[in-house]
Amino acid sequence: MQKQKRENFSSKLGIILATAGSALGLGNIYRFPCEAGANGGGAFLIVYLIIALVIGTSLMTTEFIIGRRAKANPIGAFRKLRSGPFWPFVGILGVLCAFLILAFYTTVAGWTLGYLGKSVAGHFSGQDLPQIQQQFTSFTNHPWLPLVCQLVFLALTALVVARGVKNGIERYSKILMPLLLVIMVILCVKSLTLSGAHDGLKFFFNPDFSKLNASVLINALGQSFFSLSIGMGCLITYGSYISKEDNLLSSATSVTLADTLVAILAGIIIFPAAFTFGIQPEAGASLAFTTLPMVFQQMTGGYFFCLIFFLLLVIATLTSTISLLEVIVAALTEELHLSRPAAAIYSSIATALIGIPATLSFRNGSILNLGGHSLFDLLDHITASYFMPIGGLLIVLFAGWWMKKPDTMDELTNGGTLSLPIRRAVYFIIRYIAPVAIIVIFVSQMLK
Ligand code: PHE
Repeated sequence: MQKQKRENFSSKLGIILATAGSALGLGNIYRFPCEAGANGGGAFLIVYLIIALVIGTSLMTTEFIIGRRAKANPIGAFRKLRSGPFWPFVGILGVLCAFLILAFYTTVAGWTLGYLGKSVAGHFSGQDLPQIQQQFTSFTNHPWLPLVCQLVFLALTALVVARGVKNGIERYSKILMPLLLVIMVILCVKSLTLSGAHDGLKFFFNPDFSKLNASVLINALGQSFFSLSIGMGCLITYGSYISKEDNLLSSATSVTLADTLVAILAGIIIFPAAFTFGIQPEAGASLAFTTLPMVFQQMTGGYFFCLIFFLLLVIATLTSTISLLEVIVAALTEELHLSRPAAAIYSSIATALIGIPATLSFRNGSILNLGGHSLFDLLDHITASYFMPIGGLLIVLFAGWWMKKPDTMDELTNGGTLSLPIRRAVYFIIRYIAPVAIIVIFVSQMLK
């Protein structure tokens, strides 16, 4: 077998930023408000926070542990750490999940590119709400524009991934992620001065526990896995590029906190604006793409802020699509010995074959849209509600019960050099709490 040299991230900040690059994206700014809006606001937020901070951080650490221990893609990682045919199959499920997510993710990624174009052209200035809503409908129903945007986005992703992890991923994330945070804080301040701020914040922060049911739980679980890029091997892949000296738990904690912060900021921007302009919080796909242009309308220098925001959103989205494609490419190069460029090209073509119908399914009257459920919704639903929870469960079970405990603890403590009590607690969560919580949520949804 040809021995391939694996790259490593160059610094601790490099891993945190690359992982944050994967985590931060449409999941925070587009999907989180959609889910929170559809699942009752405050009640969803509380469940989300608990799951993300406790299970999310532990699962992220677990993926890093597996990846760094094995130094391989998800399929190879399971094979290296445990013999037998079952576990590599979990890796294959993860790669398949990355592929399905990438297909529908590039639909919305294409919209961000389209909206960047609209911001440059000043399409939002002086428009009222019906006009902004009409722009979303016309854009998503345009015969070719959303498809071109999607394919350009996919090509950009393939270009970066073909060049390799370190050059590609680290460099882009370093400056741009912090900048995104700054612009979101500015937008928050603006949203809080809008007339519907009080109602919006009440909806988002006031938990109405009567709204809590099995669907809210599974949706919060799926959203936290989606947003943190966990449960499908993406962070096993990134973990395989982390060097021995790095502190896995503290990196995972920083990324989870940053990701959660950005999701909360998105809620603080979007819900006050939705209540101010009379947009339903459960508006779904159009929520972010109608509320945000309306907020920019109200700002001095709105043209400029809108442009910078969509530019940064495109980049945040790109660092996520890169991480998704990287899972597939790492698997293809290591398992089938393809070159990186060939793997990037083949997997992008395969993604486009599913991604294009997903984009078309958004059109009014599309045959890919059955009974209000589009192919897009279907892909989104099966990945977040099935693939990721099941993948996440198998990953924690693997690290907690099938990997040798000394190996897991060795990675967690960097050979015994890091403080033990907190890591023992994390091991306990990995072994007992996380699997039980995932099973309970999953089963309660099935029995509903
Ligand atoms: N976490 C990314 C986001 O929030 C999406 C993603 C999911 C990326 C799974 C990689 C793996 O946008």
